[in-house]
Amino acid sequence: MSALIDMQGICKRYTAGGQTVRALDGVDFAVQAGEMVAILGPSGSGKSTLMNVLGCLDVPDAGRYQLAGQAVDKMSEGQLSRVRGRTVGFVFQGFHLLPGLTARENVELPLLYRGVPERRRRALVEDSLRQVGLAGRMEHRPAQLSGGPQQRVAIARAIAGQPPVLLADEPTGNLDTAAGREIMGLLQQLHAGGHTVVIITHDPRIGAACPRRVVMEDGRLREE
Ligand SMILES: Nc1ncnc2c1ncn2[C@@H]1O[C@H](COP(=O)(O)OP(=O)(O)OP(=O)(O)O)[C@@H](O)[C@H]1O
Ligand SMILES: [Mg+2]
Repeated sequence: MSALIDMQGICKRYTAGGQTVRALDGVDFAVQAGEMVAILGPSGSGKSTLMNVLGCLDVPDAGRYQLAGQAVDKMSEGQLSRVRGRTVGFVFQGFHLLPGLTARENVELPLLYRGVPERRRRALVEDSLRQVGLAGRMEHRPAQLSGGPQQRVAIARAIAGQPPVLLADEPTGNLDTAAGREIMGLLQQLHAGGHTVVIITHDPRIGAACPRRVVMEDGRLREE
């Protein structure tokens, strides 16, 4: 069976002020379903560029990319955004919750956009909020929650639609040490429950908490 994430020879160049930067310079990367992987690397090494390609937010200039069995490197923007919505759950450093909505409503919104029927939506929302330990705080707004619980809401939103890949970009970057440790514990718990988790970070402690680590360096990826 092929890997859930299967990249071969992925290249992405940027030209700015007459200079060309090889942000991704022939990246081969495969992730099997159920793995938990950290992508580490110094500033400017290409982590965000890789995350954008991984998450179908951007397309590579060259190379082959199959995500969940679909050749996404050849897709139009419309096709890509459909695949993205169904295949990847995103978690960001800054939570990206809507302040006027409750935890329940924040988690529900992407399902609403996808046209998931109400009863199914309700079940998915409550199930995912329960999984992140927020069963008792579904009606709280973000401002009534501290950073850790806000990130839990964001994680519930990312997993509610049951996407095959959970992609987290510096998920503990805005949290204090204790809250960061809790969020890593939650991601480990989701991994133990069968989720595929990819974490982009420059924090070696986050890397140490992942069973597999790869390192970006000048646009190239190596296994650690
Ligand atoms: N839109 C862009 N235009 C021009 N150059 C870019 C663009 N985006 C990224 N780059 C360059 O590509 C290289 C990789 O950048 P990228 O943002 O992927 O690194 P990073 O590992 O995420 O860094 P950081 O840890 O600081 O977030 C850098 O040299 C960067 O300057
Ligand atoms: Mg970055």
